[in-house]
Amino acid sequence: MKFQKEFLLCLLIPTVLLGEEQLAGEDALGSRKYSDFEKPAVCKSCHTDIYWQWDQAMMSKAYTHHWDEIEYFDLAVEHAKKVPALKGVVDGCNGCHTPLAYLAGDVTPPRPEEGSRANESVSCDLCHSITGIKGDVPHNFSYISNPGRTKYGPKPGLVSPHHDTKELDVYKQAEFCGNCHNEMNPYGIWVKSTQLEWKEGPYGEDGVACHQCHMPKAWGKNSKMSEPDMVAQHLFHGAHDPGKVGGAIELRMHPDERDVLYDDAVQISVQLFNGKAGHKIPTGSVEDRILWLHVTATDADGNEYHLPVDTKGFEGEEYTIASNELAYQDMGLPLDIPDFKGVPRDGVPLGDRIFRMAYFDPEGRMTIMQWNTKTLGTDYRIGPRETKIETFTWQLPDEIALGKVTFKAQLNYQKLVKPVADFLNVPEDESEIMLVNTAETWIEVVD
Ligand code: HEC
Ligand code: HEC
Ligand code: HEC
Ligand code: HEC
Ligand code: HEC
Repeated sequence: MKFQKEFLLCLLIPTVLLGEEQLAGEDALGSRKYSDFEKPAVCKSCHTDIYWQWDQAMMSKAYTHHWDEIEYFDLAVEHAKKVPALKGVVDGCNGCHTPLAYLAGDVTPPRPEEGSRANESVSCDLCHSITGIKGDVPHNFSYISNPGRTKYGPKPGLVSPHHDTKELDVYKQAEFCGNCHNEMNPYGIWVKSTQLEWKEGPYGEDGVACHQCHMPKAWGKNSKMSEPDMVAQHLFHGAHDPGKVGGAIELRMHPDERDVLYDDAVQISVQLFNGKAGHKIPTGSVEDRILWLHVTATDADGNEYHLPVDTKGFEGEEYTIASNELAYQDMGLPLDIPDFKGVPRDGVPLGDRIFRMAYFDPEGRMTIMQWNTKTLGTDYRIGPRETKIETFTWQLPDEIALGKVTFKAQLNYQKLVKPVADFLNVPEDESEIMLVNTAETWIEVVD
């Protein structure tokens, strides 16, 4: 008997005493309480620099940020009221945007203005309670969370007066980020695939993880009482940081000849090199984001002309050349607008090249509602270390002045297409035009 009891205890100790939880994804809904997690304010007293870095990053605003609130409450939650089968999917938004609320089963969480703990968004204790990943391909909040006295992290043997520490390899791996930066929707479509793009690109092959660009290391202290060391900066800077987006793609351009007869045509080539991002640009919320190339010519008299891009003839190219067609009609359903005609698709100068991947609803219309995406269009984004070439063939206009013509290329980025942002009253910073890069070249017009 005695032997049996001890034997049983041995079996139980690892699972019961450590309380190691293996639930992840949808199975973890409601498996925890908010009070299982400490507030970021607690960590702040010792990890002050890291706290303020995180506080300024989107990670601390993933639930409270205006556009997130508008899309979640006005589109997603309303959509699920009309199509009840969507309820689980829409609750799932919180698995990445406010994991504590999801784990606590607090779905739909209170609005940000109510100041609940859902506002902690992607918090310190959520990330530092992660002990593993469920499944082979991280996606859809597949992290396993074990909150408690032990804070898991990248370094071995650290000592803290407030908590225990434990080193886990997963903190250094891109897969950690993939838990939330890869998303498959109910139609089985990868509507977010940043870690997958990274993995199949040159940075994934070289093992240059997300951290090297988004959590770069610098000499300093990771807490007030630590010895100095190389410390992972919690910057998480991305599309909301003009400095991160600026220069991400390099531009050069040249004409096919320098001296051009006044009644001739010239062809300008533009090279776009993604030299800075470890994934495609745009990545992440690809349904919202556009990158576009605008080219103008200015003659010796100061007359300015806009050059439309040459077409290449690939399938689905029409979605990569700016037009004023209407799109996004599926917003009419959650917004209760019968026969909604949609809003202009792009809102950028007609004929400009747009680097994007279009998302289509079940009726084949372009959508920004990733959960309502049944198919994806041609992927015309710029991959990591990829160079794309665009050409602009220009018949010199009759009134062209003799002398120098200067060509300017401007590559712009927008987080949310402007017609949608304006229609949904999303504050302007979400649709501001962010300059990625410029280039110039010239020709001499001769007779
Ligand atoms: C009373 C001070 C104090 C508080 C409060 C505190 N920590 Fe720490 N923490 C430390 C110290 C000290 C270390 C060890 C630092 C070192 O030696 O480099 C540490 C280390 C860590 C590490 C590194 C673990 C590793 O193995 O790599 C993580 C992660 C961490 N803390 C997370 C947190 C989180 C999350 C909170 C809030 C829930 C928190 N800490 C609150 C003092 C504190
Ligand atoms: C999105 C997930 C995430 C969030 C949110 C987050 N961390 Fe981290 N943290 C990490 C990862 C990943 C590492 C390891 C980075 C590396 O080594 O490249 C890390 C490293 C650390 C370290 C060790 C740093 C070092 O290099 O010595 C401490 C301490 C820490 N975090 C504390 C915090 C605190 C405090 C907060 C909240 C203010 C926080 N973290 C928020 C993911 C996160
Ligand atoms: C628990 C889920 C979760 C994990 C784990 C996570 N993220 Fe995020 N991350 C998010 C969410 C949600 C957002 C979107 C914030 C918003 O609403 O704009 C985000 C946004 C970002 C952004 C974009 C910021 C911007 O300005 O647009 C970057 C960069 C980023 N994360 C990098 C990382 C990296 C690197 C890791 C791994 C070390 C990581 N994330 C791990 C959930 C997560
Ligand atoms: C070689 C550096 C590098 C690596 C590696 C890298 N990124 Fe980025 N990332 C960037 C740059 C530069 C940008 C800004 C340009 C852009 O928006 O794509 C960016 C942007 C982002 C954004 C914002 C995109 C948007 O449009 O909202 C997210 C999210 C992000 N990265 C996550 C990740 C994740 C997750 C990984 C790892 C799987 C990763 N990054 C690896 C450099 C890098
Ligand atoms: C698998 C995790 C995951 C799920 C599930 C998820 N998101 Fe996100 N969401 C993210 C990440 C990561 C980003 C940041 C990507 C980027 O920066 O490009 C993001 C970005 C966004 C943005 C853009 C934020 C900005 O400031 O540009 C909105 C809005 C948004 N999500 C709403 C939702 C809604 C609504 C749902 C549910 C229907 C949802 N998300 C489901 C992870 C997720």
